Amino acid sequence: MKRYLTGIKPTGIPHIGNYFGAIKPAIEFSNSADNEAYYFIADYHALTSLQTGKELVDYTYELASTWLACGLDPNKVVFYKQSDVPETFELNWILCNVTPKGLMNRAHAYKAIVEKNAEAGVTADEGINMGLYNYPILMAADILLVDSDYVPVGLDQKQHIEIARDIAHNFNIKYGNILKSPMEHIEKEVATLEGLDGRKMSKSYGNIIPLFCDEKTLQKTINRIVTDSSLPTDPKPLDCTINKLYKLFATEEEIKAFEKRLSSGIGWGDAKKALFEVMNRFITPMREKYNYYMSHRSEVDEILRAGAEKARRVARKTLDRVRKAIGCK
Ligand code: ADP
Ligand code: TRP
Repeated sequence: MKRYLTGIKPTGIPHIGNYFGAIKPAIEFSNSADNEAYYFIADYHALTSLQTGKELVDYTYELASTWLACGLDPNKVVFYKQSDVPETFELNWILCNVTPKGLMNRAHAYKAIVEKNAEAGVTADEGINMGLYNYPILMAADILLVDSDYVPVGLDQKQHIEIARDIAHNFNIKYGNILKSPMEHIEKEVATLEGLDGRKMSKSYGNIIPLFCDEKTLQKTINRIVTDSSLPTDPKPLDCTINKLYKLFATEEEIKAFEKRLSSGIGWGDAKKALFEVMNRFITPMREKYNYYMSHRSEVDEILRAGAEKARRVARKTLDRVRKAIGCK
């Protein structure tokens, strides 16, 4: 049995990049009988970027409903909220004491802000709180707490898993072989999905296609995909954003037919309509489930509560081992 663990922060509306890049592959792992899956909502990590409590509540339900609508089966996955597993935060503190400050100085996310500050001519630590600085240690606690074997993440998170390994190693050197060393799992085939403007689809770029908006909003969002000013009769490149997205939702035959239309000339408006049709067809059954969970919050609460209970049982064992090793019985 291999144990897979991953977390997503509730910091915005889940988009189709999140679905293909993270949620879909994670659900596939959880369906294999050889794997155990621990998937959680990294709500305390989200505190570094959210402004209000209401935002955290809303985004948490949106993310939980998304996972469930996309097919996460709570009987196969231990599905929980990070903040419901307080053992995480106890381990976090212990791990702080085997983490060199220099290791945090080298973390990409922190370094990027320091560099931006330098460019802007402000002090290096402008806008950086300790939550952001210690972010990788909390992430190591999430991972090490349940003895994870594999952590499925996007390439941008690779360094965080390496840091978790370093922290586990430091702890084990000092206290014996207590913590399991995790490996990142990065899907090679999962390309980075493009957003409306052709850049990586990301909440931070405001170029997303939400997974679960209503049909009208979906159509309107698709209409905002940036295209060139070629005439309807001009052939369109097969590597355009519209075709890349179309291929994710259409059948082989539909793809062939659509590519023929693109090559022989089609108006962008018609191409967008075709994309809407296949995307909406794919999303409709999931959207119904999503709307169901969004209007049945107590069911979601119950699923997350039961998940946290299971996660805590495993967490407790790790923490007992750790506490004993450090001399806290
Ligand atoms: P965002 O960039 O919108 O803030 P997150 O950083 O919250 O997204 O990502 C959550 C998960 O979704 C991560 O595993 C990440 O690798 C994946 N993901 C995000 N955007 C994309 C994308 N455009 N294509 C593929 N996967 C993505
Ligand atoms: N840092 C991750 C992200 O931004 C979210 C996350 C928090 C995570 N804890 C984790 C991912 C543990 C994997 C394992 O996407």
